[in-house]
Amino acid sequence: MRGYFGKKTATAMALMATTSMAYANDVEVLHWWTSGGEAAALNVLKDDLAGQNIGWQDMPVAGGGGTQAMTVLRARVTSGNPPTAVQMLGFDITDWAMEGALADLNGVASDGGWAEVVPAALQQFAVYEDQWVSVPVNVHSTNWVWANKAIMDELGLSEPQTWDEFVAAMQAAQDAGYVGLAHGGQPWQDATIFDGVAMGVGGPEFYQSAFVDLDEDALGSDTMKEAFDRMGVLRGFVDDNFSGRDWNLASAMVINQEAAFQVMGDWAKGEFLNAGKVPGEDFLCFRLPGSQDQVTFNSDQFAMFSQGDAVSAEQAALAEAILSPSFQIAFNKVKGSVPARTDLDASDLDACGQRAYEEFRAAAASGNLYGSMAHGHANPAAVKNAMYDVITAHFNGEFDSATAVEELVTAVDIAK
Ligand code: BGC
Repeated sequence: MRGYFGKKTATAMALMATTSMAYANDVEVLHWWTSGGEAAALNVLKDDLAGQNIGWQDMPVAGGGGTQAMTVLRARVTSGNPPTAVQMLGFDITDWAMEGALADLNGVASDGGWAEVVPAALQQFAVYEDQWVSVPVNVHSTNWVWANKAIMDELGLSEPQTWDEFVAAMQAAQDAGYVGLAHGGQPWQDATIFDGVAMGVGGPEFYQSAFVDLDEDALGSDTMKEAFDRMGVLRGFVDDNFSGRDWNLASAMVINQEAAFQVMGDWAKGEFLNAGKVPGEDFLCFRLPGSQDQVTFNSDQFAMFSQGDAVSAEQAALAEAILSPSFQIAFNKVKGSVPARTDLDASDLDACGQRAYEEFRAAAASGNLYGSMAHGHANPAAVKNAMYDVITAHFNGEFDSATAVEELVTAVDIAK
């Protein structure tokens, strides 16, 4: 059964499901949710679709930030065999929409009243030239710290309020024989930390000018140098085996009380929850000191690839399921993110999630959501990757901070 008629209502779809309607096709979903916490969240979606008799073909491509997944996607589309639905971030969605590869979701969007509940900062990517081309699953933010509470209690540490207090806390942990900062040396992870560090040093105007507007003065400023200096400080608290380590293994170091802190997006919370850990009891969440009042966000969206004709019934059902209120709460509770729609009661989320949802809603209402540079919400992939290269080279000691600033200006200039 193919073709979605915009007038098909949620009730009609539910009726089709309960009468065990046979969908002609499975959905094939390309994604990079391969860690324990991510897989648990994905199961919420698989179960939801199974309840509608829609089969699931899994197409996982490991690699946080999705760089590898996007390479596989390009190969699939080039060979004329695009997956049904693809996890995607920010400007990657826009790029595929510009190529005309994405199915038109306007029918299902208008039935679901998406325009009223999805904030403008997400619609910027989900809607291309008045056409809904993707459906937001969640909202993550990158400027979080995850802390082992037992270590903090043992060392008499309270939640650091300033950058200096955070450095002192990592130092105290290191002095006591713990790893101060759990980190995996991969470019996207280095860049994820840089999101919060740069926001903390320069504030939102600087972040916007440097990462979104690519203003040369901001990119080449003393403020940027200070951000690199802080990255150097963080590097001093990372253990010797950090190179190439996956982000979830770094989370495990905090979970297992080997390390005191991890600076990572709130997908890390999914790992803590999956390990049975409780926020406030076993671990703490707080925004990277210096960036407390800001949200550097990224939203996982599912783009549906055109399968030759109108959006298929399976694609429409998947899209509708994803933005339904019950799914948004059930999924995001497990994933560590918050709902992508702003009209929900969040009392079911844990303490970190409730706080993140309130901060997201407030930032959305006041126009203060800042797209994550590291996760493709500030600029297209070419610029993002150029920034990754410089940030990682500096983190690995190839450049001092002054050189990194110069390299950043040059790399961005070439890439944009
Ligand atoms: C995605 C998250 C994912 C993380 C690590 C981010 O780019 O937005 O959903 O958990 O990468 O894989």
